Amino acid sequence: MPMFPRIGVLASGSGSNLQALIDASIEAEIAVVVSNRADAYCLERARVAGIPAVPLAFSARRSPEERRRYEDELLAVLRPFHLDLIVMAGWMLILSGEFLGRCGCPLINVHPALLEPEASNFPILRGARCVRDALKLGLLYTGVSVHHVIPEVDAGTVIAAEIVQIQPGDTEQSLYDRIKTVEHGLLPAAVEALLKSPPAAKRERVHA
Ligand code: GRF
Repeated sequence: MPMFPRIGVLASGSGSNLQALIDASIEAEIAVVVSNRADAYCLERARVAGIPAVPLAFSARRSPEERRRYEDELLAVLRPFHLDLIVMAGWMLILSGEFLGRCGCPLINVHPALLEPEASNFPILRGARCVRDALKLGLLYTGVSVHHVIPEVDAGTVIAAEIVQIQPGDTEQSLYDRIKTVEHGLLPAAVEALLKSPPAAKRERVHA
């Protein structure tokens, strides 16, 4: 049996991006899926695929000490899997720089907007409301980015990006549906490319 790189997936929601990774024929093993929401559907998707599914509940209003403790618990869950890559696929918790330093492998995230300007005046839409923001701003297009995770939210180096046109009459739902379809192709492709790239390219270049 060939030894494939091992991926851990962190997800908080429905897990359609996890499903895209499961369904893609990438030469990698999804070794574990962790969710901060015990009832998140992503855990069910993992179970159906025979992947260890770990609920690790987090209540949003914890103190900084409890956050640190949560990150320690998360590291304790992930470590035994000896992961080569962690993919945040709809993971809604911000992880500290300390966690990123300690987890021992690169982390990447998929974000439903463009994070590198396509033109000098093109707005960078970070955060959870970026699909709504793209519509509000009346943009002609938005997109999808797969990027390295750094302590600053949605700010790490972009690994892959794709444009999604905004159509007249688009609602937040119709636009997000098209964005997700693009995510489901781009994320597995980016993971595969990253895993095949030389070691130096796998990590975020913090000091470019
Ligand atoms: C995706 O749109 C991703 O870009 C964002 O969270 C969403 C997760 O969706 N970070 P799903 O749970 O994979 O369906």
